[in-house]
Amino acid sequence: MSLSGKKVVVFGYGSQGHAHALNLKDCGYNVSVALREDSQSWDRAKEDGFEVLNLKDGARVADVAMLLVPDENQPELYKNYLKSELKNGAFLGFAHGFNIHYSQITPREDLNVFMVAPKSPGHKVREKFLEKEGVPALISVYQDPSKETLQLAKDWAKGVCLNLGVLETTFKDETETDLFGEQAVLCGGLVELMKAGYETLLDAGYDEKLAYFECVHEMKLIVDLIYSKGFAAMRESISNTAEYGDYTTGKKIVTKESRENMKEVLEDIRNGRFAKDFILEGQAGYPILKTMRNRCKDEKIEVVGNELREMMFKK
Ligand SMILES: NC(=O)c1ccc[n+]([C@@H]2O[C@H](COP(=O)([O-])OP(=O)(O)OC[C@H]3O[C@@H](n4cnc5c(N)ncnc54)[C@H](OP(=O)(O)O)[C@@H]3O)[C@@H](O)[C@H]2O)c1
Repeated sequence: MSLSGKKVVVFGYGSQGHAHALNLKDCGYNVSVALREDSQSWDRAKEDGFEVLNLKDGARVADVAMLLVPDENQPELYKNYLKSELKNGAFLGFAHGFNIHYSQITPREDLNVFMVAPKSPGHKVREKFLEKEGVPALISVYQDPSKETLQLAKDWAKGVCLNLGVLETTFKDETETDLFGEQAVLCGGLVELMKAGYETLLDAGYDEKLAYFECVHEMKLIVDLIYSKGFAAMRESISNTAEYGDYTTGKKIVTKESRENMKEVLEDIRNGRFAKDFILEGQAGYPILKTMRNRCKDEKIEVVGNELREMMFKK
């Protein structure tokens, strides 16, 4: 069964929501957007050419409902609108497996439940679609009473991510690897690595702008090489001095202890401790998230970065 001819309703018009909705509309599918009536995104979605519905109406008319509101708000949205309003046999989609895997949503048995998780921030999903390049995606089926859910997920992935690299997986593996990647490597690990390098140079008396260029700004240039051609090609592009330093020094930084810590991070994800902490944090109104957000935005490294970007990128 294809996505064609179905009424698709994308819930949320944020990072992923706008990208999925626009890409599918550009592919010719019948897409509407569903939002809260006081939503800040309502006018933007209308200006982008969508029929915008409130949450109840969106749930009522959808043949395919895609949940692209923040993970922490999805259970409430399911409980208040989707559970009672979705048509019998409708399709319910996710872009991340968290709420299914950690049992925050237990879908009605008649629903066909799938996941299309782009391995990319939402704004890149749209940007790469417009460049006709696409982004990779993980797809999965959790419930399949129609026996047609996998084909629908493939259609969705093709429309939104352009089939750049679509891998079939489970909600469990997508959730656990995604949480591990963002905590240990992509966000948590990377930011701490850059900050530690920057602060080491500052403590030794070097200029803060040099330290920023070296430990933060250049990261993108190196990662771009790895992104397009892998580690070997990156090493071909750097000097022999840099390559020698890479082989001899990397393991002094990511030590056996760091690897043991990574295993602990993964264990907390697998046994549900991280999910439980995050859900409790949400129920308490995000005290840690808000404090850290405020503290980090005023850090010296951010001020230096802003000054350098002002110097480099001003027109
Ligand atoms: N961000 C990423 O790069 C990324 C990557 C891969 C997968 N994902 C997954 O994609 C899904 C969406 O994440 P996102 O980052 O795109 O979310 P997001 O940008 O934070 O979503 C914002 C949208 O959700 C709406 N919204 C917020 N709370 C709501 C509520 N209680 N009820 C109804 N609508 C609500 C907002 O509408 P208002 O205007 O009303 O506030 C806004 O339109 C998540 O499952 C996430 O894990 C995200």
